[in-house]
Formats: sequence, structure tokens, C-alpha cells
Amino acid sequence: MAVYQQVLTDDGFVKQEQLHFPFEERGLQFGDGIYEVIRIYNGHYYLLTEHIDRLYRSAKAIRLHLPFRKQDLCKQLLELLEVNHVRTDAKLYLQATRGSAPRDHAFPNAAINFYAYIEDLPRPTENLLQGVETITTPDVRWQHCHIKSLNLLPNVLAKQEAIDHGCFEAIFHNNGKVTECSSSNIYIVKKGIIFTHPETNQILHGCVRSKVKQFATSLSIPFVEKRFLLEDLSRADEVFLSSSTSEIMPVIKIDGYKVATGQPGALTKKLQHAYEQDAGIRD
Ligand SMILES: Cc1ncc(COP(=O)(O)O)c(C=O)c1O
Repeated sequence: MAVYQQVLTDDGFVKQEQLHFPFEERGLQFGDGIYEVIRIYNGHYYLLTEHIDRLYRSAKAIRLHLPFRKQDLCKQLLELLEVNHVRTDAKLYLQATRGSAPRDHAFPNAAINFYAYIEDLPRPTENLLQGVETITTPDVRWQHCHIKSLNLLPNVLAKQEAIDHGCFEAIFHNNGKVTECSSSNIYIVKKGIIFTHPETNQILHGCVRSKVKQFATSLSIPFVEKRFLLEDLSRADEVFLSSSTSEIMPVIKIDGYKVATGQPGALTKKLQHAYEQDAGIRD
């Protein structure tokens, strides 16, 4: 997958190969930073403002000062698309860390390290159509999952566990209460009602999750933000995930068992359609 040449940094635009960080870097040594992944369709950001708002919320939560205004950052991110002549489906990755400094747990007196780059990313059309298989696994993460922090080791291990089982995603649960997935939010449909975990500190407040709520409301589908259990998952009529890279993804198997008939459900398909319209996706 191609990474575009020009990278946005706290020092302006630089070429990918010119970007180097010292080994005493807070992101590398402590995971002391935050990040965002923003979807790009046909060379245009989808939900840019929502992601940048969350970036600033994450920064505040870890007491990281971002030395630029939101509107200036958005302007520069738009310029990043331009300087790279991006016309494809892609993603933007950006991260900000507490800078480079001699290793010490306490906050350093250092400038932040910031970079943002774009990489091609085709839509996962086959999976969106067929649905994906998943596993369940205990949620061993910290108590601040609403912060999009660089500390992703439990998420990495869970995703790898899913892949080792030939699956796409791992569904987290806390003593049987389902929270979210390693890199997406999760929903069940029961008797025409969508259930998903409330926006607490136990999940990431997904930008696509907010959209799912909006689509459900405009389609008159009841959307209930309430914890549900592993048992509810296995008895659901439909299960789906959401994230910027997975969009609205049907789940057809959990731990080797079919969800209902083992086919993507009707409500999930309606939401997928609403997503495509909202994101201006053309075939
Ligand atoms: C743990 C977790 N939950 C949920 C999401 C979905 O967030 P979004 O819809 O903003 O992409 C992600 C995205 O990467 C994630 O890492």
C-alpha cells in the first residue's frame, strides 16, 4: 500500500524519508501520545471535524498541549491532500507525542512531536458484502479507553488472537459485558432495536458510531445505548461493527457460531447504504 511522499510535521511539510526521531522519544518509550485515523474517499476527508475534535479531547485528557489551533490544523491537513495529489480512497494517520527528551516518567520540558501522513486504502468491499468472523476475548485495557492513546498493546494482542483464529476482529468483554472491539465499536440488533455500549470511559467514542446513531434516528430505527452481555451477542438477530476503516461491517460468526442465519442482516445493510450516501461514495 503506497504511503504518499509528503508528510505534515510540526515543522511543516517534509518528505517521508527525511523524517527521523531520536530513540529517546516519548511515543516510542512510553506510548505517551495520541493519534487519529481519518478516512479519505476519492481524495476527500470523511468526518474530518469530528476526528479533530476528538484529537483535542484526547490531548486535554492526557494534559498534552497542541500548539496549533484546530482550524489551522484542518487547513494544513487539506493542504496535505493537495501537495500529495490524493485522488484515491485512502487514510490519514496522525499522531502527537510529548516530544523527545531524556527518558524520565515525568513530563519533559519539550516540544511535541507531530506528524500526519496519507496511505492508500481501498474499501473492504468483499467483507462489507459477505460479513466477517470474530472471536470474543477479555477486555484487559485501562480505564480510559475513550482516550485515543498510543498505548495499544492489549488491542494489538487481541487483533492478533483474532487473526490467529482466521477471524477479522476480536470483541472485548468485561466479565461478560461487551464493550467494543480491538479497533471498532460493536452493535447488536434484537427485534428491530440496535443496542450498543454507552459512551463511557470504557469505549472509544467512535466517529462512525456517532454517524450510526444519526442514521438509525433518521431511519426510525430505535438506538439504545445500554450495556449488553455475551449471551445477548449469541442470541442477536444481527451484529455489526463500525470504524473509519471498516465502515459498517456485518458480523456473521462469533467464536465459530453463526449469528442468526450467518448472513449480513437487513438493518445492517440499510445502515451501510446510509453510510455510503453520507460519505458520498460512488461505485
Ligand atoms: C478501540 C476502538 N474502538 C472504536 C474505533 C472506531 O472509531 P472511529 O469510528 O472513530 O474510527 C476504533 C478506531 O480505530 C478503535 O480503535
